[in-house]
Amino acid sequence: MAKALVVYATITGNNEDVADIITDALEDLGVEVDEVEMTMADPADFEEADICVICPYDEGALPEEGIDFYEDLQEEQLAGKVYGVAGSGDTFYGDDFCVAVDKFGDALAKTGATKGAENVKINLAPDEEDIQKLDAFAKQLVEKAAKLND
Ligand SMILES: Cc1cc2nc3c(=O)[nH]c(=O)nc-3n(C[C@H](O)[C@H](O)[C@H](O)COP(=O)(O)O)c2cc1C
Repeated sequence: MAKALVVYATITGNNEDVADIITDALEDLGVEVDEVEMTMADPADFEEADICVICPYDEGALPEEGIDFYEDLQEEQLAGKVYGVAGSGDTFYGDDFCVAVDKFGDALAKTGATKGAENVKINLAPDEEDIQKLDAFAKQLVEKAAKLND
């Protein structure tokens, strides 16, 4: 059975919702999932997973409590694993919408892990359409991981 680690950072709960939706979708696809808040997670935990997922919020910068995680992540070697990033921001911030999603995506790319799905950016709380996007995101991650392990 494939294993996934879903790490999220949240203040008002939107990114916990995003992480919950991804976790449920992965579990429905037969994946064993650990869902962990960022301050309780260590990037080295991704070494035990096949699928690495990050759900960060954005406050015009990276989540402050996630800076250590972000920095340590860049030191990890995660070749052979699949990653995806999905997060909630606020389109009110225009060009700065969900910049943290792209930053974590770039950090995961540096680890040598394989991108399993396009970054998903959600405006505030996930709605029905976002849930469909996150379900598709989870499915793509699982399919990519299956291909890598072929
Ligand atoms: C002070 C402040 C600054 C913010 N700056 C940004 C930003 O630059 N880009 C963005 O997409 N969202 C920004 N947001 C919006 C949050 O990322 C958004 O509300 C998100 O859904 C919060 O996620 P959470 O519920 O998981 O904490 C900002 C919010 C606050 C309070």
